[in-house]
Amino acid sequence: MTLTNRQGHPISDNQNIRTVGNRGPSTLENYHFIEKISHFDRGHIPERVVHARGAGAHGYFEAYGTVGGEPVSKYTRAKLFQEKGNRTPVFVRFSSVVHGGHSPETFRDPRGFAVKFYTEDGNWDLVGNNLKIFFIRDPLKFPDMVHAFRPDPVTNLQNPERMFDFVSNSPEATHMITFVFSPWGIPANYRQMQGSGVNTYKWVNKDGEAVLVKYHWEPVKQGIKNLTQREAEAIQAKNTSHATQDLYEAIERGDYPEWELCVQILSDDEHPELDFDPLDPTKLWDHEKFPFLPVGKMVLNKNPENYFAEVEQAAFGTGVLVDGLDFSDDKLLQGRTFSYSDTQRHRVGTNYLQLPINAPKTRVATNQRDGQMAFHVDRAPGQNPHVNYEPSSLGGLQEASPAGKEHEPSYNAKLVRQKLDRTNDFGQAGDTYRKFEEHEREELISNLVDALKICSPVIREKMIEHFTKADPDYGRRVAEGLAKAGASGGHLSSRDAEQG
Ligand code: HEM
Repeated sequence: MTLTNRQGHPISDNQNIRTVGNRGPSTLENYHFIEKISHFDRGHIPERVVHARGAGAHGYFEAYGTVGGEPVSKYTRAKLFQEKGNRTPVFVRFSSVVHGGHSPETFRDPRGFAVKFYTEDGNWDLVGNNLKIFFIRDPLKFPDMVHAFRPDPVTNLQNPERMFDFVSNSPEATHMITFVFSPWGIPANYRQMQGSGVNTYKWVNKDGEAVLVKYHWEPVKQGIKNLTQREAEAIQAKNTSHATQDLYEAIERGDYPEWELCVQILSDDEHPELDFDPLDPTKLWDHEKFPFLPVGKMVLNKNPENYFAEVEQAAFGTGVLVDGLDFSDDKLLQGRTFSYSDTQRHRVGTNYLQLPINAPKTRVATNQRDGQMAFHVDRAPGQNPHVNYEPSSLGGLQEASPAGKEHEPSYNAKLVRQKLDRTNDFGQAGDTYRKFEEHEREELISNLVDALKICSPVIREKMIEHFTKADPDYGRRVAEGLAKAGASGGHLSSRDAEQG
C-alpha cells in the first residue's frame, strides 16, 4: 500500500525534507512536511472539563419486553424496550471525574458510566455514574464543586482542605461523601462496577401518561469489586491504566462484560409520604420499597478501532432522549442537559453530531447547514436541495406525525430561587453508614481521618457535626480518629487567603 498525503499524492520520500543541498537551508514549499507537521501540531482537542480520563467499548442492548412481569408498553412507548430480544447497538464510555486525561485510574473518585444507544428512533444517551447518588442537587453549585475538588489554582495540587471546605458547607454532600470515602469510592475496574442514571427521568406511554424512573446497571456476570486505599496504592505503583487495560483485554479474549438494566418506578407526583423528594439526586430510592425491575441486558463485545476517533470524540448528553422517554423536573438533570451539548460544541466542534461515533444509525434530515468541518449535508433522499427551510410547498422536509399523545404536565407556582422542602441531608447518609459492613466502615473512617487531619479546625468540626447528625457512632469514630491522629491546623492560612 502506497503512502500518500491527504491530497492523495503518493509520497516517495518520507525521511528527508527538501533543502538547498543536503546541509540546508530548507525551502518553504515543503508541502508534504508542512501538511504532516501542522496536522500533528493540531493533534489534540480540549479534554473534557470533567471525566477526561476514560475508556470505551461497543456492544449491544437486548430488551426483555417486560418490566416487573408486565408488558413494558404499560409504562413507556420507547421502541427499543418493546420486543423481547430486540437488539440495539451501543457505545459505552467509562471514566473517572476530577483529574486529567492521563491520570491514574486508581484515584478515589466517582466513575462515569455513559451509554449511547443507537436506537431505531435515533440516539438515546444514558449518562450515569457508578454510584447511585450525587454530591449536590442544584446545578448552580456544579462549577464551584468541581473547582474545590480540582487542584489548587496556586499550587496545582489537589488539596482535601479545599474539597472539605466546600463539602462542609454543603450538607447535602454528606451522603455521597460517605460512599466516596468508603471502598465504593474506588471500584476495582470498569467491568466490576455498577452504573446508575442517578437523576430521575420519566417514562411516557402511548396515552401520554408518565411515571418517574431511575435507571441502574447491575454487573450480574462479573459481580462487584471495590478496592481499599492500600490495594489501590499497590496497583497504582505499577500501573496507572489498569482499568483501561482490564476492559480492553477482557474484550480481546472474548470475556464480554454484561450488565442488566433495571428501573425503579414511582408514580409521577410529589410523594409526600416520603421523607425526601423523589427529584432529589442526593437520595436513594429504597430498593426494598421500590424494587429493581429488569428491562434488558447489555453486552460489550468490541473494542474501539481508534481511541481518538471513537472514545475521545464521543459526545454524550442527558438531553438525548427518544420518544417514550422524558425529563423529570430534577433541577440537576435540567442543568446538566444544557451543559453537555454546550461543552461539546466547544470541545469537538459545531458539527460534532456528524462524526460517525455520535451520528445516529438512522437517517438524519435537518435544515442545519454549514459551520466548521461540515462534511456532508443532512438532506433526505428526494429533498429539494434549494429548500433548507421549513415550512415549504417546494419539496422540503415535513414535520413527523406525533408517535403518541404528548405528556403535558401542568404547573401553577411562583418563579422562585428556593431549595426543595424535604432536604433531609443526613438521614440516608446514616442509613448507608449502618448498612455498610464493618470493614467498609473501618475503611471509611480511616480515609476520612487521613483527609480531614490536614484541614482547618472549622472544617473538621463542621464535618464531625454532619457525620454525627447522620449517625452518632459515625461522628464519634471520625472525631476519635482525628484526635488519635493528632490533627492540627489547616494548610490554607488566612495569610494565603489574603494573597489571593
Ligand atoms: C461529563 C457537566 C453531573 C456523569 C460531563 C461534562 C460536562 C458535565 C460539561 C463533559 C462532557 C464532554 O466534554 O463531553 C455536568 C454538570 C453536572 C453534572 C453541569 C451537574 C449539574 C453529573 C452527574 C453524573 C454525570 C450527576 C452522573 C449521573 C457524567 C459522565 C460524563 C460527564 C459519565 C462523561 C461522559 C463521557 O464519557 O463522555 N459532565 N455533569 N455528571 N458527566 Fe456530568
